[in-house]
Amino acid sequence: MGESATRSGYLPPAAPTAPPSILPLEPLVSQRKSFLYVVVCAAGVAGDVGTLITAAQDRGWDVGVVATPHAMGFIDAAAVEARTGYPIRSAWRRPGDPRPLPDPDAIAVAPATFNTLNKWAAGMSDTLALGILCEAYGTGVPTAALPCLSTAQAAHPAYRRSLDALREMGVRIGTGERDQTVSGGFRWEEALDLLDIGSVHGS
Ligand SMILES: Cc1cc2nc3c(=O)[nH]c(=O)nc-3n(C[C@H](O)[C@H](O)[C@H](O)COP(=O)(O)O)c2cc1C
Repeated sequence: MGESATRSGYLPPAAPTAPPSILPLEPLVSQRKSFLYVVVCAAGVAGDVGTLITAAQDRGWDVGVVATPHAMGFIDAAAVEARTGYPIRSAWRRPGDPRPLPDPDAIAVAPATFNTLNKWAAGMSDTLALGILCEAYGTGVPTAALPCLSTAQAAHPAYRRSLDALREMGVRIGTGERDQTVSGGFRWEEALDLLDIGSVHGS
């Protein structure tokens, strides 16, 4: 048809074009809630991480938990997942698998162990939790850590050096000076205060 139309000089009617879209426009401002990663390490208080999750949700944030492999033995995974609505991440996903959590707007490491703090400061990345923490410096995601250590662990010179290095990286470190391994009194909500998570969307 195109060939004969050209020969005769006749131009066929233009193909109908799609009418302008009347679908609703994308909202100019995203309705997504801000998203907090709670990185949980293998300290005795880890089983109470629900306190922090609930406090963050009460302040209008969605929460996803990243646990070190050792921390998985300290928490009630089913209860945490029911509370957050997201799977706990502990291992790297396989290439091609979807990302289980949205990107974080802030990260709270609570409780933060001697082991993970020292490895994070040294740039080690042999757990998913450490990988996320090491990258947070480069991506500029605000990060706070609540150390949970015995007095004997805190006396090790490497620990002081690690805290200095983390502070230089901009990590906001909790103020707990006493032995945080003693049950009770762990100041979970200090992580939210350090991150200025005060109300809906952190405003
Ligand atoms: C019952 C129990 C309680 C522990 N509490 C602490 C603690 O409060 N702080 C700490 O730094 N390590 C604590 N540890 C030792 C850590 O679990 C251990 O160093 C582990 O390798 C930390 O791994 P992660 O940093 O990858 O989570 C505890 C171990 C056990 C078995």
